[in-house]
Amino acid sequence: MTFERISVEPMSPVIGATVSGVDLNDIRDPAVYEEIRQALWKHHVIFFRNQPLEPDAYLRLGESFGDMENHEFFPHVEGYPQIQVIRHEGNVRPETDRWHTDVTFRERPSRVAILRAVKIPPSGGDTLWASTAAAFDALGPDFQRLLLALDARHDLPWSFRLNDNYRKFAEGRVRDGKPYGDVLEEELKMVRRNPSATHPAVITHPVTNRLTLFVNSIWTMRLEGIHPDLSDQLLRMMADWVKKPEFSCRFRWEQDSVAIWDNFATQHYATFDYGPHYREMQRMTCGSTTPQLLREQVPPALWPASRT
Ligand code: SIN
Repeated sequence: MTFERISVEPMSPVIGATVSGVDLNDIRDPAVYEEIRQALWKHHVIFFRNQPLEPDAYLRLGESFGDMENHEFFPHVEGYPQIQVIRHEGNVRPETDRWHTDVTFRERPSRVAILRAVKIPPSGGDTLWASTAAAFDALGPDFQRLLLALDARHDLPWSFRLNDNYRKFAEGRVRDGKPYGDVLEEELKMVRRNPSATHPAVITHPVTNRLTLFVNSIWTMRLEGIHPDLSDQLLRMMADWVKKPEFSCRFRWEQDSVAIWDNFATQHYATFDYGPHYREMQRMTCGSTTPQLLREQVPPALWPASRT
């Protein structure tokens, strides 16, 4: 694809590109959004500098990737429930310092996320992305065949329990200066609201048709149909594999930098090396889609006999 309305500078042959020549607050031609989408599908994550995005322009950018989502856990910009505020201060880790794909615990995870730097620490706070499509390609046919046969369960309540989040939520509930939250109540609420979701461990990308690994270390609880011990080992192995530097890029934020990533083709990791400084980002997630593995996009020699 050649780009006529934007400039696209790849960061590596595998993942990441810097986009320039566009003012995200003032896109009038729909063809510009189309070129931004094409750059994203090609490079998995794209970066823009010096974009002091106004909320309405931010929304238009998000809408160009599909339906907008609200997020259950983050506060939002006043009047804009779709623009989540992710802020952090102090020395307690923010929990996004683990490789993950966003919200895979949902039946229809977001396909695209957009992150804007509002306030960055004096140094540090970089974010890394890894291509799960490149990670799958590099596995070789025998391993690919094995993973293509498996489904994976993704589960938010399980992940929150591992991270002791219910206690943190309960302790955070203060009325008249006194804590009143109950740990078990917090957990029950979350379990009721968030049933686990099962997705193929490898999916077909809904736009590019590339095969991409779809398990991650925050939300994937287990691979189904195999012994739990084997599931643990395989998930750990995949989590390590995705981290190979060959599949990844690292972005150093500046004020008003914007990153857009393809959530179905990447994992990301927010480094937490800046405590106790303040870091504030605005995030939007859009284009919820059911992850699928399409037989017609898998080479016949790799299609597992166990799948119909
Ligand atoms: C996220 O994990 O979505 C946030 C990434 C970041 O804060 O850099």
